[in-house]
Amino acid sequence: MKNNVDLLVGAQWGDEGKGKVVDLLGGDVDIFVRYQGGANAGHTVIADGEKVVFHLLPSGMLYPGKLCILGNGLVIDPEQFLKEIANLSEKQQDRARLAISPRAHVVMPYHKILDQAQEKARGKGRKIGTTGRGIGPCYVDKYSRCGLRIEDLLDADVLRDRLTPLLEEKNQILTRLYGEKPLPFDEVYEPARQWGKTLAPYVDDVAALLRRAVDDGQHVLLEGAQAALLDIDHGTYPYVTSSSTSAAGAFTGTGLSPHDLNRVIAVAKAYTTRVGEGPMPTEDLTEAGETLRRNGGEFGATTGRPRRCGWLDLVGLKYSMALNGADTIALTKLDVLTGIGPIKVCVAYEYEGERLDRFPVSTRVLEAVKPIYETLPGWSDDIAGCRTIDSLPQAAQDYVRYIEKELNVPVGLIAVGADRDQAINCGLLRS
Ligand code: GDP
Ligand code: IMO
Ligand code: MG
Repeated sequence: MKNNVDLLVGAQWGDEGKGKVVDLLGGDVDIFVRYQGGANAGHTVIADGEKVVFHLLPSGMLYPGKLCILGNGLVIDPEQFLKEIANLSEKQQDRARLAISPRAHVVMPYHKILDQAQEKARGKGRKIGTTGRGIGPCYVDKYSRCGLRIEDLLDADVLRDRLTPLLEEKNQILTRLYGEKPLPFDEVYEPARQWGKTLAPYVDDVAALLRRAVDDGQHVLLEGAQAALLDIDHGTYPYVTSSSTSAAGAFTGTGLSPHDLNRVIAVAKAYTTRVGEGPMPTEDLTEAGETLRRNGGEFGATTGRPRRCGWLDLVGLKYSMALNGADTIALTKLDVLTGIGPIKVCVAYEYEGERLDRFPVSTRVLEAVKPIYETLPGWSDDIAGCRTIDSLPQAAQDYVRYIEKELNVPVGLIAVGADRDQAINCGLLRS
């Protein structure tokens, strides 16, 4: 039997509309899974006029009765997790619907303090512009093999044993290196012990559970957070997040194997945005960028920061399609381009007088490139009500076809508004 596991990833620098696409796909999904990142994500779902932003929980949580999993690759801030659950209705909170891997790492209070202190110490020109959610320092501890995992919270004695030397070391770093106040042991230990008690009913061997579910042919949707160009290995280092955000991260982050995968869905915005620092060749600092920000409501779902806005970057997207092995594209926010006038698309870069067709390895090179644009005609008719590709204005259809041709990946879905029903199915949705 054909495997029934779909993997959804962001194709640019995040905020492509992954939450909306997961929600749209959710009707026939049995299990939703987050597998990397943490509460740095902000995935917006608007269903029946209700807006929910998920940071840690999978965006399928609004579907009653379906299983939602937090895999081992996540870094989980229990406070944020419990806050998100508390915001759901009683039916949505059903504990049997939610499972957390005991192998996932815990974002501790010192990780968040360190994240912010390190950003401050980097100063202007060197800061990364992190979300301040403790993501980097938590992954550092994971790979240094001194992190606390969810399983460690479940046993008060183990927690005490592991936390005692760890906190001593963290307090040295906080006080001596960053001039912060030390964290008293009990102020860290007691809440963590309490988290263990509260989280215990959710903890399960989700790798084994997923294995059985996949073997039984259940439909699993793996929901990536962040996006390929923020990948720790393949992104615009050091202006990246600290996890494997491209397709490969789904395997280490769940315990599933590449053989399990049915298809990779890459979510791409019809233009480009980026939050935080780092190169963005097509950033538009003129009125056009401002219009994109205003029309697209481009403000961070996690931090509220204005997102940097600009034109579609096909060089970055080609790189991302190959890196992710994308089978299909979900193209979002096409409606935001309505009325913007002629649309620019970056087809290559110019670097030191030469044409660059490939996304450069070096972030310093990417910082120095100039985009080479082609200009396509825009459209002015409102497209938010379109539900078939043929009903789009010709220029909008041509824009979509142009992207498909350039990337050599079919567009399976076009989103034309934030609401659940504002989409054109071009084969991605099964029904
Ligand atoms: P994610 O992090 O990839 O899930 O994306 P975010 O939720 O951070 O940002 C996407 C924003 O665009 C959210 O406010 C969505 O409600 C909104 N959105 C998603 N798709 C569309 C679309 O097709 N058109 C418009 N106008 N808004 C959209
Ligand atoms: P979703 O899942 C956009 C960016 C931050 C910063 C860099 C590192 O909603 O697409 P971190 O806190 O992860 O150490 O910050 O990554 N970043 C995101 N940008 N969308 C996100 O998530 C992001 N998560 C992190 O702005 O530049
Ligand atoms: Mg987001």
